[in-house]
Amino acid sequence: MTETSFYEAVGGEETFRRLVHRFYEGIKQDPLLLPLYPEEDLTGAEDRLRGFLIQYWGGPTTYSQERGHPRLRMRHNPFVIGEAERDAWLRHMHEAVESLELPQELETKLWDYLVYAAHSMVNSPT
Ligand code: HEM
Repeated sequence: MTETSFYEAVGGEETFRRLVHRFYEGIKQDPLLLPLYPEEDLTGAEDRLRGFLIQYWGGPTTYSQERGHPRLRMRHNPFVIGEAERDAWLRHMHEAVESLELPQELETKLWDYLVYAAHSMVNSPT
C-alpha cells in the first residue's frame, strides 16, 4: 500500500495554487514587504514559492529541476528579513492558510511548518 503524501491529502496542485495566490494578494498590499520583491510582476515569485511548497510536501519536483537545491536561507540573503518582515510574511500566510479551510489536523501541520520555516529565514536583528 502506498502512503498518501501530504501534498495529495490537502488536494494536490490546486490547493497550493490557491494558497500561494492568496498569499501574494496580501504581499501586493504590503508596504513593508512589497519593496523587497525584485520583480514588479510577482508571477515568477508566485511560481517559485508554489513549486517549492509542492515539492516539500511530496508533490512533483519541478522546483528543483528548474532551480536546483532550494538553499532557502542563502537565497534570502539579499533581502533584509527581521522580525517585522517575518511577522508580516506570516500574517499573509496565515490568511492564505485559513482560506483553504483544510481539516484541522492538516491545517496545523502546514501552519506549524510555515512558522518554523519563517523563523529560520530571519537574517537581520532589526
Ligand atoms: C523568494 C521574501 C520566507 C520560500 C523570496 C523572495 C523574497 C522573499 C523577496 C524573492 C522573490 C522571487 O523569487 O523573485 C521572504 C520574506 C520571508 C520569506 C520576507 C519572511 C520570513 C520564506 C519562507 C519560505 C520561502 C518561510 C518557505 C517556506 C521562498 C522561495 C523563494 C523565495 C521558494 C524562491 C527561491 C528561488 O528559487 O529563487 N522570498 N521570504 N520564503 N522564498 Fe521567501
